[in-house]
Amino acid sequence: MYSSLLFHSIISLLFIFFTTKYAQSETPVAKPKPSALFVFGDSTVDAGNNNFIRTPMKSNFPPYGRDFFNHIPTGRFTNGRLVSDFIASYVGIKDSVPAYLDPTLRIEDLMTGVSFASAGSGYDPLTPTLSSAITLEQQMEYFKEYKSKMELFIGKERTLDLINRAVFMLSAGTNDFIVNYYGLGEPVSQVIYPNVTSYQNFLFENIEQFLKELMNEGARKIGVVGLPPMGCLPEVITLNRDAAINGRKCVEPMLSVASDYNVILQNKLKAMQTSETKFYYADIYKPILDMIQFGKSKLGFEEVSAGCCGSGYIEAAILCNTNSAVCDDASKYVFWDAVHPTEQAYYYVFKDIRPVVDIVLNDY
Ligand SMILES: *[C@@H]1O[C@H](CO)[C@@H](O)[C@H](O)[C@H]1NC(C)=O
Repeated sequence: MYSSLLFHSIISLLFIFFTTKYAQSETPVAKPKPSALFVFGDSTVDAGNNNFIRTPMKSNFPPYGRDFFNHIPTGRFTNGRLVSDFIASYVGIKDSVPAYLDPTLRIEDLMTGVSFASAGSGYDPLTPTLSSAITLEQQMEYFKEYKSKMELFIGKERTLDLINRAVFMLSAGTNDFIVNYYGLGEPVSQVIYPNVTSYQNFLFENIEQFLKELMNEGARKIGVVGLPPMGCLPEVITLNRDAAINGRKCVEPMLSVASDYNVILQNKLKAMQTSETKFYYADIYKPILDMIQFGKSKLGFEEVSAGCCGSGYIEAAILCNTNSAVCDDASKYVFWDAVHPTEQAYYYVFKDIRPVVDIVLNDY
């Protein structure tokens, strides 16, 4: 009886001794981490905002979302998660970044960040008008509305602290070229901007203005995504007569437009950096081109130039729907529809830009 009690006391003491010792010597000083992830841009990062506005640019129906959590078509333009979802998960915030306009969001969802992005949007205000998408200016207004809401919930000071410690991500630009300058908007945009250099300069003015406003609102860490190899998107190849009949090769001029733009973007971001706010460039051009060029030989893809949904050459948004033929295994495809990558491709892009995310984390 006595010995058993004594034994237990010794064990308890030992336990307390070791746990205290362990706690003192082994627990690293907690490293600050991002409070939230806020996302702006187009369909590459829209988590379903377009579900709540009048626009033909929707994807909240099958087969979209086929491989998402619970197989839900959320309004993401792919079969599963987006790069922004993988980033939020990697930095330990949450498994996916929800759409700001979703009325069912709880305060916990809002506190860890949301996406303001809208499929069809772009840096030229004319671009979202062509697809009835949410302009970047309106996305900024929503962010300000978000801030006011949070101030009511947690106060001004904590809201500003939340914003200061958050990561921001901006991903757009493709629609400015493929929908606007070389597409529907051509009769207007190519008159105002007779060459692509002048159009790019106009886009950069808009980007700089948007980034400055984000800084004014308290953003301290802002990642900006470059352009993909636009000339290799299945739909771009289809709509270019020469490329379509020429073995469906990538449209070269569109590739150099994208790579020139990416070089200038990196320089602009460097020039905008201040002691308070850091900018990070995320390159998606190389990983996407790699998948298209070496996807079959080296990366385990079976189809790199046609989408999984429909014919794979033209369908996106409403044209990819419940009546479309869909491939069995989207993870073997680089493209989900004729414009947007599969979850597998987005995951590959995420892995490629993960070193940039690590730099962001190191800056905390
Ligand atoms: C492009 O257009 C602008 C005027 O909008 C002009 O000043 C510039 O010289 C042009 N550049 C080229 C390369 O043609």
